[in-house]
Amino acid sequence: MPRHFAQRLAGLPAPATIEMARRARALRDEGRQVISLALGEPDFATPPAVIEAAHAAALAGQTKYPPVDGTPALKAAVARKFLRENGLTYTPDEIMVSNGGKQVIFNAFMATLNTGDEVVVPTPYWVSYPLIARMFGGVPVYAPCHEADGFRLKAEALAAVMTPRTRWVVLNFPNNPTGAVCSKADLEAVADVLRAYPDVWILSDEIYEHLVFDGQEFASLAAVAPDLKDRIVTLNGVSKAYAMTGWRVGFAGGPKDLIAAMRGVQGNATSGVCSIAQAAATAALDGPADLVRDMAKTYSRRRTMVVEALRAIPGLTCAMPEGAFYAYPGVAGCLGRTTAGGTLLETDRDFAVAFLEEENVATVPGAAFGLSPYLRFSCATDDKNLQEACARLSRFVKNLK
Ligand SMILES: Cc1ncc(COP(=O)(O)O)c(C=O)c1O
Repeated sequence: MPRHFAQRLAGLPAPATIEMARRARALRDEGRQVISLALGEPDFATPPAVIEAAHAAALAGQTKYPPVDGTPALKAAVARKFLRENGLTYTPDEIMVSNGGKQVIFNAFMATLNTGDEVVVPTPYWVSYPLIARMFGGVPVYAPCHEADGFRLKAEALAAVMTPRTRWVVLNFPNNPTGAVCSKADLEAVADVLRAYPDVWILSDEIYEHLVFDGQEFASLAAVAPDLKDRIVTLNGVSKAYAMTGWRVGFAGGPKDLIAAMRGVQGNATSGVCSIAQAAATAALDGPADLVRDMAKTYSRRRTMVVEALRAIPGLTCAMPEGAFYAYPGVAGCLGRTTAGGTLLETDRDFAVAFLEEENVATVPGAAFGLSPYLRFSCATDDKNLQEACARLSRFVKNLK
């Protein structure tokens, strides 16, 4: 009998981040000492006070179905967070809590996209934006960000790809995979372009906002351009800032009508987020800011250590990331050469696969993020692993013929 699958899944690749993590696990199962820099997941533990808040909530009976769009306590904590940290005022019906930031995107795109609508995504991008857009008939359109500009989005690059079919523009600074941070001035220039397209929604994914280094100040788009706030979805969450990836809590502030439509989507998919995880997220957002600052300091120190080591390798280039926990070295200088194991490196994917096979270090090729030839190095692991990974990369490149 034929087995039927939905057309909307046709041609959707599995994210390469997951593919590299899978390959790394398979090599580990063979007994190899694999270092994985493939996943964007903090290596810190969730703060104990957050875990205790979850425990207390469960014992206090917060174990029933929660409201679809979030518990009143968490929505109030989110509203305080937006006001305190971003200078943004959102009322309860302008806030929604989802299963991670990822579900915010899923809800927003499902609620708004029709077949053929264009979704502008600056490259390189976090893998999920184009994949989720395509699930709903959206057509990803790419606005390139270049290494020479520190991978920041230039207003001209955005303007060049806007069309009458543009339905969404996605912004993600600090950026995954490059760590690029857009300044207030950068965002003002981008906002000027967006003003000319009044029916376009804007997703500002600010999930790495606390991981900004070198005295740079994070700027939230809706605060920089308040006149655009009624079409901006400000996405954030606790995964990255509070080392809470497994709790699955993300949230968004946005216009009432869009939030209501997103609530409708989520109500038919997952309903409300786990009540206990929401209690934990409330404690995280209301908790002391120094925990987040300490983690950011560690990421910043590791970033400098990794970028200096990468820049010392002949044939590699590396922009200094100003935020998040990634480095994005360029490998153009190594293509066309052959590894010690006999693989001809034609692409960054060849590079990442051979580096994993021959040196047991998992990274993700730039192709996965829409900008080649690069590798993404996640710095969310300890110093020893990072130093060892850089030493292995140096040896791998030195042995190229
Ligand atoms: C840029 C970006 N946005 C959103 C997310 C979603 O995170 P979560 O669903 O854990 O909140 C991630 C996770 O990797 C990310 O890198």
